[in-house]
Amino acid sequence: MNIFDFYKKKEQGHKISMVTCYDYTSAQILDKTAIDCLLVGDSVSMVMHGFKNTLAATVDMMCYHIAAVSRGTSDKFIIGDMPFLSYRQSKSKNMAVVQKLMQAGAHSIKLEGSAGNLEFIQQVTESGIPVMGHIGLTPQLIHQLGGYKVQGKTETSASHLKQEALLLQEAGCFAIVLECVPSLLAKEITESLKIPTIGIGAGPHTNGQVLVLQDLLGLTMNFKPKFVQAFMNGSEQMQQSIARYIQAINQEEFPEHEHCY
Ligand code: KIV
Repeated sequence: MNIFDFYKKKEQGHKISMVTCYDYTSAQILDKTAIDCLLVGDSVSMVMHGFKNTLAATVDMMCYHIAAVSRGTSDKFIIGDMPFLSYRQSKSKNMAVVQKLMQAGAHSIKLEGSAGNLEFIQQVTESGIPVMGHIGLTPQLIHQLGGYKVQGKTETSASHLKQEALLLQEAGCFAIVLECVPSLLAKEITESLKIPTIGIGAGPHTNGQVLVLQDLLGLTMNFKPKFVQAFMNGSEQMQQSIARYIQAINQEEFPEHEHCY
């Protein structure tokens, strides 16, 4: 997958599949699937490190996980998130962050919002680096948004989102994530753009879908947003496997002869 395949998928009406990935082992497994692309999202701070929100993600954290994912895949397209405020410094500092993420193994970067980012996006794309936009519920703005809420519900905020999408396309983004917006608004935005949209909590009309890997595997405990479908009951299966392991130890059924030197 490269950015032209993203465009082609939209043109041909084929859906784009994206999933988050933060580690080497998962990357190796995902590499054997037909998934189109891997997002090393700043959600890594919550999913892998237990922080309350994505504000805790740092450039070093992102690079560490991008590098691990990159070592685990042979040819998957990797998108690396620019973490909180890392693209709100001076031009040269912003570019230095992009350089770090790309040298860690990303093939493109993603950043949240349009206001104040357009010139930077243009500079990054003119430097030959694909940029994915992200609008709607943008978790790095959580305190300004007043919580994890569906965006674009009023006429004003819907028309603001439509405008943002067009501006991001104009600035050079090759695709845009639409997070937590009403399905019909996502449809309108998708139809208004030449570039593909990838939805999370944005209904079925976007050009693709993204989910957090741990959510779709049912590994995330005590938290299930409406838009998540767990395709496996990972946490129960893991607990059952650990219970069988403990039992095998206690009953001296493990290790067996074949496991011994
Ligand atoms: O960090 C992340 O997981 C994301 C997705 C929600 C799109 O940005």
